[in-house]
Amino acid sequence: MNEKEEILEKYMRAGKILSEVRAETAKKVKKDATLLSVAEFAENLIREKGGQPAFPVNISRNDEAAHSTPTFDDKSVFGEDMVKLDIGVHIDGYIADTAITVDLSGHPDLVKASEKALADAIKFIHAGVNTADIGGVIEDAITSFGYKPVINLTGHGLAQYLQHAPPAIPNKKMPHGVVLEEGDIIAIEPFATDGVGKIYDAGNAEIYHLVSERPVRLPSARKLLEKILEYKTLPFAKRWLGSNVDFAMLALVKANIIMPYPILKEVDGGLISQAEHSLIVTADGCEVFTK
Ligand code: CO
Repeated sequence: MNEKEEILEKYMRAGKILSEVRAETAKKVKKDATLLSVAEFAENLIREKGGQPAFPVNISRNDEAAHSTPTFDDKSVFGEDMVKLDIGVHIDGYIADTAITVDLSGHPDLVKASEKALADAIKFIHAGVNTADIGGVIEDAITSFGYKPVINLTGHGLAQYLQHAPPAIPNKKMPHGVVLEEGDIIAIEPFATDGVGKIYDAGNAEIYHLVSERPVRLPSARKLLEKILEYKTLPFAKRWLGSNVDFAMLALVKANIIMPYPILKEVDGGLISQAEHSLIVTADGCEVFTK
């Protein structure tokens, strides 16, 4: 295998692990199960299967769109929630990214809206399509169900140790975009809502990422940074670092060494569904590697 083939093989392997983990984890989402048990189940299964979590398992409920993950000693349980599981696997930094909605809230059409948008986008994609038009396909599918796309969240490119690489793949028709080329590796992730279709930063971050490695004086922060460097530029969960890390984490945030990803919520409190696959653009279509 040449280098290019080796890289593709890693994407494929990450995707296969991820498909299996997604299916097994979805079964664990039940009323009264703890969110922490579901997140840890998925992250452990990824490691057992020979991958690494590319980011903490996001378990976002109801009006939360993304970036919610359990705390170290989280006791919260599922109720009649609309649950989004967003899971990533990497092998040597080559990332597969997928999301599924498990609906315990009784809104099947809202789930179908994001699933149909993803399916339509996948059918539409080939080398030469413009990302602006992919956004149009996604928007049309979601509005045909009477819902709105979340317009300030987008799909994205995938690159080594970079979960959100360019180009952004919009969830609505845009005036301009970029033309996809054969071999581009991207994640498409439509979000549908019965709210107004926008999200805001709701704070309470549990997920962080490294922004710049620089010296820090506080010994506990220095020690924590050593651990964080293992994740390179990928997002990590505060709970992965153990308990009682608040003070050291705060010092790293203040020194601009790490940055939080705040929880994102729908501005109108609308319910949100999400579907996501990762794919490689080919001359006449695309190959989904998280099927
Ligand atoms: Co993604």
